[in-house]
Amino acid sequence: MEIVLAPDAMTACREAAARIADYMRGAPDPVLGLATGRTMEAVYRALVGMHRDGLSFARCRTFNLDEYYPIARDDPRSYHAYMHEQLFRHVDIVPERTRLPDGAAPDPECECRAYEDAIRTAGGIGLQLLGIGLTGHIGFNEPPSDFVTRTRLVELDEETRRQNAEMFDDRWQDVPRRALTMGVGTILDARRLLMVATGAAKARIVRDALERPVTPMVSASALRQHPASTVILDSEAAGLLRLDR
Ligand code: F6R
Repeated sequence: MEIVLAPDAMTACREAAARIADYMRGAPDPVLGLATGRTMEAVYRALVGMHRDGLSFARCRTFNLDEYYPIARDDPRSYHAYMHEQLFRHVDIVPERTRLPDGAAPDPECECRAYEDAIRTAGGIGLQLLGIGLTGHIGFNEPPSDFVTRTRLVELDEETRRQNAEMFDDRWQDVPRRALTMGVGTILDARRLLMVATGAAKARIVRDALERPVTPMVSASALRQHPASTVILDSEAAGLLRLDR
């Protein structure tokens, strides 16, 4: 695993965007795995800036990690709305080539199977962007999540609902209790993983994921079992690391 230390959050997010852009330019048929959340907002801002300077998304296909369940696509708190607002509406991506789990699917199991099939049909994910939750989740893989799990309906931890309350008028009880998420196994199938973590609040869980035992209790520790994973941290998120490997 490669660990990249950046002096601040902005530099960390720009570095992530630069690596995504390199992948997009180098791949004949880029398939990007995307994430949502506060950390990613600066990554997408940087990508939008690069698009204005000529980076094209026209050849890209994208799959997002997760979506609340149930939620309507046009609900402003949905991850569909987030992606539209933060990235898709600003770039030349083809809407039909973007996909998120459907939080309004009447049969979630069927939707999860279809999602896995769609990723496979696209040739698999070339580069998967990831954040890390305070519970150690990647996607919404709350502890414990086996490293072989596939896209599925999950219950969100109270800590995660509290972490994500901002979009719900700071009422964590209004954050949906469930979500559809790629599994840890689905994520590990991506050819490259790129995690970004910034801010002091992430320091403890970053240390647990990177320097404590690899365990299904901390999904992000699975990155250490991947042959091509990179973690980009700002100095605050890296604050508890010993980095003596
Ligand atoms: C979102 C996702 C989550 C977030 C994580 C960090 O699609 O998959 O794993 O990346 O919860 O969220 P922020 O950046 O808001 O701290």
